[in-house]
Amino acid sequence: MQFLLQPVWALKNNLLFSHQSTGGLPNRWPPGVRDSHVFPGAAASLEGCLAREKSMGVLYRWFGRPWLRVQDSENAHKRSLKILKFTASNPLGRFMLRAIYKPKRDLPVKVFGTTYNHPFGLAAGMDKNADALRGWQALGLAFVEIGGVTMLQQDGNPRPRMFRADKSQALVNRMGFNNEGSEAISEKLGRFKHRNGGLNVPLWVNLGKSKLTPIAEAHVDYATSLQRLWTYADVFVVNVSSPNTPQLRTLQNDDHLVRILNACHEANVACAEQEGTSVKPVLVKIAPDLDEHQLSTVVHTAKANGASGIVVSNTTVARPDPHHPKETAIFAQQGGMSGQPVKERSTELIRQVRSIAGPDWPIVGVGGVASAGDAWEKINAGATLIQAYSGFVFEGPALTKDVVHGLHRRLASRQLHSVADAVGKGFQD
Ligand SMILES: Cc1cc2nc3c(=O)[nH]c(=O)nc-3n(C[C@H](O)[C@H](O)[C@H](O)COP(=O)(O)O)c2cc1C
Repeated sequence: MQFLLQPVWALKNNLLFSHQSTGGLPNRWPPGVRDSHVFPGAAASLEGCLAREKSMGVLYRWFGRPWLRVQDSENAHKRSLKILKFTASNPLGRFMLRAIYKPKRDLPVKVFGTTYNHPFGLAAGMDKNADALRGWQALGLAFVEIGGVTMLQQDGNPRPRMFRADKSQALVNRMGFNNEGSEAISEKLGRFKHRNGGLNVPLWVNLGKSKLTPIAEAHVDYATSLQRLWTYADVFVVNVSSPNTPQLRTLQNDDHLVRILNACHEANVACAEQEGTSVKPVLVKIAPDLDEHQLSTVVHTAKANGASGIVVSNTTVARPDPHHPKETAIFAQQGGMSGQPVKERSTELIRQVRSIAGPDWPIVGVGGVASAGDAWEKINAGATLIQAYSGFVFEGPALTKDVVHGLHRRLASRQLHSVADAVGKGFQD
């Protein structure tokens, strides 16, 4: 989350250099921005800022990251989320975020009954309580996953519980599903819809199990949250793979998963009938630490019990060697590791899931995506959509634009017309 402080640097940079701008914007700008009478000075100055797209990343590396490094990871995360929320709370802030960070190209992807602007979205855990929805939308993400949300409000594990290893581009967390609970979050989404008319990109909700709920009652926990949040969500993700809630990963086993998916399906059907619409896609999110047999079982079970797709993957409990001996202590922290150390494993798992489930069952690839090349690898392994969390922490908010523009270039150079033409095709970078 620390990356979100970058907008401040970017805005400052933008204002500082505004006098260098030459005025009228080029034709590649959409008319609403090109002809802006609302913020003509800002729009003009953004031209210069965009021309320095790369230097914005450098600014983040030079100023944003060092400043963030001296802070506790979780505090930096909270401050950054507040800054994003604040910046996106007014039209000028949203305009600036969109103009600087939103990809200038679309790469439409048809999946889960809708068309996504491009394949890149926000992974679960970043905005657990749906606090900065307008900010994510302004940054140009194609979809936003909130949560994990549990049936009961909970504080999570004692702090410190989030650790950053900058040299290894890795995070370790043992948050333990700290969140406001599905009732409060549902009310918040209701207020958001009332005030702002909802999001204009799909909203995904990641569902977890409350710590107090016994494993045998897990299905009730998931289904209750699904029912409470149904009206506002476009897609649900059943998270049975977080390493930070005792026994949660055992829910990937056959019987438990069947019970959870059945309970969610019943709630899904009841809500759809009540609102006179169709059911919403429910996906299953798996751990990268499953062996071949476990993977095959979870894929077959999820597919046979109505899951519309799979999210691969959550954080890992495995620990490779750190890039620097100074980071050994961070790697030794208990919890789930994300970022670069999980990248290859998650991509390999995507490949395996595709060979088990076949090409028609959508896979969402997540784990260590920090560039267009990483996203391209996962798409070519079989992922239709891509998500990131850690990549934003290390690369900043320009990541979405970098990924989408980079994917666009890769498709164009192979004369492919859409992301779908590359899914599972094994093209090398
Ligand atoms: C601090 C933190 C909290 C997370 N919380 C959740 C969560 O609540 N539910 C979930 O399914 N995944 C959660 N994740 C996992 C991410 O969504 C993602 O699957 C994982 O970090 C791998 O992607 P990345 O390498 O891009 O970070 C969390 C990750 C981090 C770093």
